[in-house]
Amino acid sequence: MTKKLIKNIGVLATPSGSKAKAGSDQGKINQLEHAWLLWEDDKIIDLGQGAPPSADQEIDANGHLVTPGLVDPHTHLVFGGWREHELAMKLKGVPYLDILAAGGGILSTVRSTRAASKEQLVSKTLPVLERMLALGVTTCEAKSGYGLALEHEIKMLEAVKELGSLQPIELVSTFMAAHALPEDYKADREAYLDLVINTMIPQVAEKGLAEYCDVFCETGVFTADESRRVLLAGQQAGLASKCHSDEIDPIGGTEMAGSIGAVSCEHLIACTPSGIQAMAQGGVIACCLPATSFYLNAGFAPARDMISAGVPVAFGSDFNPGSCPVHSLQIAMNIGCYKYRMTPEESLTAVTLNAASAIGRAELVGTIEPGKQADFLIWDAPNLDYIFYRFGDNLVKSVFKKGVQVR
Ligand code: NIG
Ligand code: FE
Repeated sequence: MTKKLIKNIGVLATPSGSKAKAGSDQGKINQLEHAWLLWEDDKIIDLGQGAPPSADQEIDANGHLVTPGLVDPHTHLVFGGWREHELAMKLKGVPYLDILAAGGGILSTVRSTRAASKEQLVSKTLPVLERMLALGVTTCEAKSGYGLALEHEIKMLEAVKELGSLQPIELVSTFMAAHALPEDYKADREAYLDLVINTMIPQVAEKGLAEYCDVFCETGVFTADESRRVLLAGQQAGLASKCHSDEIDPIGGTEMAGSIGAVSCEHLIACTPSGIQAMAQGGVIACCLPATSFYLNAGFAPARDMISAGVPVAFGSDFNPGSCPVHSLQIAMNIGCYKYRMTPEESLTAVTLNAASAIGRAELVGTIEPGKQADFLIWDAPNLDYIFYRFGDNLVKSVFKKGVQVR
């Protein structure tokens, strides 16, 4: 058992506790100046200010900022191919849902993902995870949803499982076969829903390949009623619910998710006051995806209204080949802070504790406190404001995952 210490920390900034923070609590960050942090193996044992205790190994933070490792609660991490060929259409103003309705968009990525082997998906994704780690992400959610057929959904989820064992970022899997209606079921959406509900969900749950079930509740994709059926089937099989809702049109997904005890709603660009109320009443975490708003040239989720209503706000990257081909949660958190007008303190909670809560890991990660996992970052920054003020570069200097320096 080796005790390790980071000394000479300029500011140690962290939220506290093991539950998502809402309202004014979202902006409450403990900031210890002239701090030190002590851990043993993979667990934090103590932190404080002033003269540090002795340890077997010491690291000098040189007056820099230390925060918890970042948690990315929303990615479509594994997929075949890319979609740069859609850029020209997007620049001409062709809407995202029109590209999908014409068999492009998600369906184009489905074709490339089906054509790839599990090994190809793993080797394509490993370098992305290396970059995400260097950018400060130590825990990350990953959705399926580009297979849209049992064998290909399982292939994607098995790829995620393998990726979790090949590199330091802990991955949390979400089953999302209700991401689009596959072309082969265009004439019979009921048959596809039946396949998802009665065949895929039970098998994925039985194999232990996912913890969450998600659905794209959107105009031309799945209705609120269809989404409810999928999510309730997931709950019956032990998969907690997440819902892509109000990304483009508010068609009732957020209200439905609030009524069935979903853990989180995702996107929420077009979220209305009734959606916000449903999340507040249902204890739902709002997972806002600021880089997607930027990339879709769309509006921004009403995050301030959510905070006022007592809804915890988390930020995710939404890394995917279509609506958000960026794997940097730092870029997402910078855009979020500016465009949602959330303070650096509120935004830090959004990418640590609230993000961890949205993927069921808040007992373990998301804060720097005794007993939590030793996941933290040393930034090339003197204080918390600085990492939201500087924009577009990687400000993470060192990354510690489970007590081990991995970058
Ligand atoms: O979160 N909105 C649905 N799913 C993804 C986009 C997937 C894609 O375009 O490939 C999202 O934005
Ligand atoms: Fe998404």
